[in-house]
Amino acid sequence: METMTIESLIEEIISNLDKYNLDDCLQDIGENILHYMNAERCLFFLLEPGNEDLSFAKAVGDEPAMADVVRIPMGSGIVGEVAEECSPIVIPDVKDPSCKKKFADFGKMTPEIDEKTKSVLALPLVVFGSLIGVLEIQNLPAEMCTRASIRKLLPLVNIAAVSIPRRATDDSFVKLAEIAVRFLEEKDEYTHGHSLRVMRYSMMLADKINLPIKEKNELRICSLLHDIGKVIIKDSILRKKGKLTESEFETIKMHCRIGANICSKISRPLARKILSHHERWDGKGYPEGLGENRIPLVSRIIAIADSFDAMTSARPYREKMQPHEALEELKRNAGTQFDPHLVEAFVVLYNEGLLDVVKV
Ligand SMILES: [Fe+2]
Ligand SMILES: [Fe+2]
Repeated sequence: METMTIESLIEEIISNLDKYNLDDCLQDIGENILHYMNAERCLFFLLEPGNEDLSFAKAVGDEPAMADVVRIPMGSGIVGEVAEECSPIVIPDVKDPSCKKKFADFGKMTPEIDEKTKSVLALPLVVFGSLIGVLEIQNLPAEMCTRASIRKLLPLVNIAAVSIPRRATDDSFVKLAEIAVRFLEEKDEYTHGHSLRVMRYSMMLADKINLPIKEKNELRICSLLHDIGKVIIKDSILRKKGKLTESEFETIKMHCRIGANICSKISRPLARKILSHHERWDGKGYPEGLGENRIPLVSRIIAIADSFDAMTSARPYREKMQPHEALEELKRNAGTQFDPHLVEAFVVLYNEGLLDVVKV
């Protein structure tokens, strides 16, 4: 079976966000997870609004032998226990004597377990810090039943949880994207916190130039998501320590288009601004070679915040610059790479000492 990367799963889930049908959505998430985990079935239980029971919503893969309508009270069985504690439970082998006791404790009150069940991994589905349900994955290979693999799976499950339609709002998309961006950055010490810092620098610059509120709202989202397209670029290119080949660089450049494509599912104007965050004032940037005011203002702001953060962060191939050195670099490139008026405003921010407060 072809192995999928977590990155491609995330991309697939994000691109399917406009699916509003709960059943289709759970089917997609379930299939992805089965494929990724090499498991045989997964079951979704969702918390009933306004009460403490979980109700069975969907099975993907092998149908379990269970009643049509199953309700599990909070605290009972494996699913109820995961919901109550809001933490995963793993039972690598239901026949193993060391698991047996645990399984027996849960088993007698657990209608989702049948004679075909060999192993169980149950995870809470959490959105905005509150529980919305439980995902139970059954019959997965032993190597997937480790703490390390659960840790790897959790961000994906969180993302899946946000995309469950009955919870989907504009806000939840931003939250989802935030999780995806964090997930992307956490894998690499060199980009850790980059998107959040770019958002903070961008918002400060927006305040300084009195950007209208509507554009400020767009800027907040776009600056956070500007590099989200990198989520599907291979680690071997993204994290390469040496010099990139020309074709590798071309691949990295694609993150603008990929990011715009992902975000276009939500809003075309936002997508446009993400597309243009690597354009240059002199028209020599990418992907379209736009110049001056043809580049959206939001993208011009992000370009400055992005470069300042990149220069003041260490990279595998160079030391980090001091803020005053990075500022000199921005000034040197005002009017060629960057919008000169925005650089002026950024210099004022620096002189006021405001940039120092940005720490992630
Ligand atoms: Fe970028
Ligand atoms: Fe960036």
